[in-house]
Amino acid sequence: MKIGILTSGGDCPGLNAVIRGAVLKGTATYGLELVGYRDGWRGVIEGDVVDLPRTAVRGIAKQGGTILGTSRTNPFEDGGGPEVIKDHMGRLGIDAMIAIGGEGTLAAAKRLMEAGIKIVGVPKTVDNDLDATDYTFGFDTAVEIATEAIDRLRTTGESHHRCMIAEVMGRHVGWIALHAGMASGAHAILIPERRVSIDEIAGWVKLAHDRGRAPLVVVAEGFVPEGMDSPYSERGLDTFGRPRLGGIAEQLAPEIEAYTGIETRATILGHIQRGGVPTAFDRVLATRLGMAAVDSVADRRWGTMVSLSGTDIVHVGLGAALGRLKTVPRHRYDEVRVLFG
Ligand code: F6P
Repeated sequence: MKIGILTSGGDCPGLNAVIRGAVLKGTATYGLELVGYRDGWRGVIEGDVVDLPRTAVRGIAKQGGTILGTSRTNPFEDGGGPEVIKDHMGRLGIDAMIAIGGEGTLAAAKRLMEAGIKIVGVPKTVDNDLDATDYTFGFDTAVEIATEAIDRLRTTGESHHRCMIAEVMGRHVGWIALHAGMASGAHAILIPERRVSIDEIAGWVKLAHDRGRAPLVVVAEGFVPEGMDSPYSERGLDTFGRPRLGGIAEQLAPEIEAYTGIETRATILGHIQRGGVPTAFDRVLATRLGMAAVDSVADRRWGTMVSLSGTDIVHVGLGAALGRLKTVPRHRYDEVRVLFG
């Protein structure tokens, strides 16, 4: 059997480890032939592939990014669709696909499966917001990078007696903010799931300052303060059609400074959180997911995805990942809130 692998959507540390796991087990255990689609669904729509023998994946588990490239192309748009894809698969002799991606990719995979394409999924997002899997690879690396950066912000904040605000990724959920904020001992953590007022944030900042600390605030990019409509102002559109702006941290800084009288600086960590070497945890998780994905192929479990349940890799329907984000539950936020003072 010949299998095409694609990585789609935003990149994420661990993607190469998934590819390597799939290629090594796929060739050794099942005698599969693997090829990679270049740049996600773009390569699928255009039939643009590269061979993936064992030698192509040597030493890549520790490399950031994806050797295949990625894009946010939608397989049902841009001249795509099931018939075009089937034509290319026939021409290239590809029998089935492994799609590594987030909710959009897995939703597209489900539609393609319903149109008769043999496909299995591997869940991916640094935000850790996919339901039906306990953790996604990339999240641990993003938390590690964010924590290290926030630790650095703390020492400059302490030197200048300033309040430092670190903005981390998390469009819809605050997992990175929660974990990096807890690990770095933040005095306030702000996440999209829990709206709090500027008054309350200023209270936490003041409390830390009064105790002789340099206040440290960690905010997820999707956080909206209570009483504010949206943090976004008019500065063009980003990949998702959202208005582009400086970021919520930059909007909060002058507000906090005005409320507390404490000099405040904002830092947006941005794509640094998605780049570079994955942690050992992410390499192991990603490798196991890649190997389990070729098990799914060998077992002809079309329309399923591999997922982490506790410490086990299990197989669930693609639909399980869709329609509901895994948000930070109230008790996890209440737990960390105790630490703010
Ligand atoms: O979904 C992952 C994510 O990293 C979000 O946290 C962030 O908002 C978005 O991707 C950034 O996307 P892009 O790389 O297209 O700017």
